[in-house]
Amino acid sequence: MKQRGGSETAKRNAGEYAADYVDDGDVVGLGTGSTAAHAIRALGRRVDAGLDIRGVPTSFQSRELAREAGIPLTTLDDVGGVDVAIDGADQFDRETGALVKGGGAAHTREKLVDASAGRFVVVADPSKAAAELDHTVPVEVLPSARRPVATAVAEMGGDATLRSAKRKDGPVVTDNGNLVLDCAFGAIAEPPALATDLSTTPGVVEHGLFVGLADEVIVGTEDDVERYRYASE
Ligand code: A5P
Repeated sequence: MKQRGGSETAKRNAGEYAADYVDDGDVVGLGTGSTAAHAIRALGRRVDAGLDIRGVPTSFQSRELAREAGIPLTTLDDVGGVDVAIDGADQFDRETGALVKGGGAAHTREKLVDASAGRFVVVADPSKAAAELDHTVPVEVLPSARRPVATAVAEMGGDATLRSAKRKDGPVVTDNGNLVLDCAFGAIAEPPALATDLSTTPGVVEHGLFVGLADEVIVGTEDDVERYRYASE
C-alpha cells in the first residue's frame, strides 16, 4: 500500500479510534488509503470478537483489505446508504472540514459512499491539517475528456497534469476505467465555488473536493487523537 503523509503510529491511532464509533448492526463505509486501512483492520478484529456489521468498500484496495480482515461485505445498491463511513484525506481545512481526497484515485466511489453516510468520520495524521486548502485536486475524467477538461481547468485558473502510473507505462487508470488529472490551483479561496465549477464541467466524472460532507476529523498523534467536529450539510 502506498505510504503518504505522516507517521504510521499517528495513522493507526486515528484509524483505531474511529473503528470504535461503529455499533453492532451498522453498515460501514470502508475508506481507501493507508489511514483508513488501520480502521478496516481494527474493525476486522472487532468482527472476530463478535461485532455484527457489513462493510461497503470504496475501492478495489479496501474490498481486498476487508476480505482479508473478515468483514462481511455488501453494496450501496443493496443498502442505499451507510450508517457510518470512515475514510482518509489528503488535506483538510481545520475550520470548515472541507477535504481534498483522491491521492489514491478512489475519490469517485469514496464520495458516493461517504456522502451516503449518516456519520462521515475522516481519519488523518497531523500533516493533513491546513488553514486553507492548497493541495492539488484530483479530477477523474472520461478518457476522451482529458484535453477539454484540462482546458476548462486552465480557465478556472488551474494547471492539470495527467497522473502517470508508477509501475506501468502510461497513465493511472481508475477502478472505474477513467483517467485522473491532478489540478493545481494554489490556495483555494472558495472551495464550494470551485467544487461546483468542476462538477459542472462536461467529462468530469468526479473531483476530490469534499465540501460540507465531513462530520468529524480524527487526527492521530503519536500517543492520542485530536477531534475536529463540523456541522455537515
Ligand atoms: C484515496 O483516493 C484517497 O482519497 C485517500 O483516502 C487519501 O489519499 C488518504 O490516504 P492516506 O491515508 O494513505 O494518506
